[in-house]
Amino acid sequence: MQLKRLKLTDFRNYAQATIDLFSGVHIFYGKNGAGKTNILEAVYYLALTKSFRTAQDRHLIRYHQQMFRVEGDLINDQGQAFHCAIAYALQQGKRLTVNGQRIERFTEYIGEIPVVLLHPADLMLSQGGPANRRRFLDVLLCQSSRIYLHHLAQYNRALKQRNQLLQSEAVDGATLEAWDVQLAEHGAELMQRRQAALQELSETVASLYAELSQSPAKVKLVYRSSVPGGGEASPKEAFLAGLSGHRAADLQLGYTSLGPHRDDVLFLINGKPFRTYASQGEHKTLIVALKLAEYQFLKKHVARQPILLFDDLFGELDAQRIAQMLTYLEKIGQVLVTTTSRNFFDKVNLNQLPVHSYRVAQGTVQLEATLHE
Ligand SMILES: Nc1ncnc2c1ncn2[C@@H]1O[C@H](COP(=O)(O)OP(=O)(O)OP(=O)(O)O)[C@@H](O)[C@H]1O
Ligand SMILES: [Mg+2]
Repeated sequence: MQLKRLKLTDFRNYAQATIDLFSGVHIFYGKNGAGKTNILEAVYYLALTKSFRTAQDRHLIRYHQQMFRVEGDLINDQGQAFHCAIAYALQQGKRLTVNGQRIERFTEYIGEIPVVLLHPADLMLSQGGPANRRRFLDVLLCQSSRIYLHHLAQYNRALKQRNQLLQSEAVDGATLEAWDVQLAEHGAELMQRRQAALQELSETVASLYAELSQSPAKVKLVYRSSVPGGGEASPKEAFLAGLSGHRAADLQLGYTSLGPHRDDVLFLINGKPFRTYASQGEHKTLIVALKLAEYQFLKKHVARQPILLFDDLFGELDAQRIAQMLTYLEKIGQVLVTTTSRNFFDKVNLNQLPVHSYRVAQGTVQLEATLHE
């Protein structure tokens, strides 16, 4: 997938901006607050119809305006050109079009433009709480499977209803049971699909980690479910049994205390948790391996080359790790990188990849130079 042109209207600090893109590496450099991350946010939004920084679309509207628009001209891996646009207005909400045709269901669209984002908060994947890891799996699986996206939406809907019911004055047992069935049906799908994806990711991450670190350390990713596995015939039945077993506790708590929304992923190094044992450098190597694995997973499962979005890597990673990462992405498609230091890539051997640099200042973006082309 290649983004040829990105157009922003009243998005964050951009009144209007048109950015032409090519293949290879794109470096957006500029001072703090210039609008670099906003560009990556716009591409991510175009792909996932959501931001990675806020759950509220209205935050993306330029101050004092009523709406924003993000548009992209793209070419898919078969060479077909298409145009995507997402507009959000305070009054009308979100509107998505592809080649001028309105798309009502976003689930039919998400995954069309696969993206992999690496940003400073990703260090929280191995160091922070479980919500970070669930989100990682959800974003990956939503991009690679429409069915997953469907089950996730249904699961979240049922979970919300069940929690509301748990908090109500008089809880009707039959209604609660009906929600349990809904949760179990969709939740079991989520857990199975996450487990399968994780098994695949774990193998890729382990071999990438060994190569990147040049060490014999054994890395493993393990799905840790909050649902106790009994002798039940299926994951759905196990979840259903768990829900009924936790019913009294859930009524006390006022929320659903087990299910995929409470599951976690363990990152292990030589059998011990990263979170408690790994060094700072080991965490960074793990994140690089994980992101490369995410890229390979998406590429394989959506059969399209993802667009890479690297935000402010240099704050987190050293030149050597970045160079390693780019070298691993053989036949790299498109990478968009932000940095405050224009010369950073001077230290990185990019294997003659084309490099385009853009100066970002106060909501303007200017292509300055192209190397190796
Ligand atoms: N809705 C909005 N309307 C107008 N400006 C906004 C809006 N939301 C954020 N901004 C501004 O956009 C500016 C640029 O944000 P961005 O995160 O892209 O900066 P950056 O170039 O990535 O900076 P840094 O190097 O510090 O990460 C910030 O100054 C912020 O105040
Ligand atoms: Mg930034």
